[in-house]
Amino acid sequence: MNRRASVLREMGLAPLWRLRDAPAAAEYTPPAQQHAAAAGVSEAADVAAAPVREPVGVPAAAARPAVMPTASPLVAPAPARVATDGLGWDELEAAIGACRACPLHERRTMAVPGVGDRAADWLFVGEGPGAEEDLRGEPFVGQAGKLLDAMLAAIGLVRGRNVYIANAVKCRPPGNRTPQAVEMTTCQPYLERQIELIQPRIIVALGRPAAQTLLGGEVKINAARGRLFDRAGIPVVVTYHPAYLLRSPQDKAKAWEDLCFARAALAPR
Ligand code: URA
Repeated sequence: MNRRASVLREMGLAPLWRLRDAPAAAEYTPPAQQHAAAAGVSEAADVAAAPVREPVGVPAAAARPAVMPTASPLVAPAPARVATDGLGWDELEAAIGACRACPLHERRTMAVPGVGDRAADWLFVGEGPGAEEDLRGEPFVGQAGKLLDAMLAAIGLVRGRNVYIANAVKCRPPGNRTPQAVEMTTCQPYLERQIELIQPRIIVALGRPAAQTLLGGEVKINAARGRLFDRAGIPVVVTYHPAYLLRSPQDKAKAWEDLCFARAALAPR
């Protein structure tokens, strides 16, 4: 069995699905043009319709994604905005490492800024560091991280190569609880600066907190899946968090569809 086949099997996606070629550049309408054409229409019927699950190929909806405008990126009014304007990578990581802007810093071992290719096309955003990440200072190194690596491999990606991985909050929420809105809001300028520096061609929100940080307001994963959002000109796709997929492996195939959808939606450089 070749590597891809093993990876897909690892994700629980047998029988194997084969990716069609990514859409040719000429077929792909850049998000900005789609947005203009949509003239503020917030949902495209072909994308909102349930993707056709085919045993071979990308879901039909992935071929022609339409861009959804988003609300303000802020989740809630910021209590005290951390200053990140103009920071370069080293300064930004130092600022994250020294941050005391919210109570999460009190119990952290290490802040976890993010890892990967700083000029990546792909940015994956999770929720917040867990116990292992807190000890190692790197996102997604535990069980959920292993599944994330398998998900990346399933679409031909490798951690650190054309991929950057970050979290909505940079310090571990105690007991791995979901980060509170005020914590995400406080931490948000760090993620915003990372996005400005990376300028990814696609952002994949892993789970609800990440989606809410990136898109603003309430987001329901099942309603947001299969839709292409626009965040300051960068397409955003929402999928399940790998930790959820570990508990609900029956949804791995949907995550695979979402990644195929994201691949079809890569913004032009
Ligand atoms: N879950 C996340 O959301 N992020 C991590 O870094 C690890 C687990």
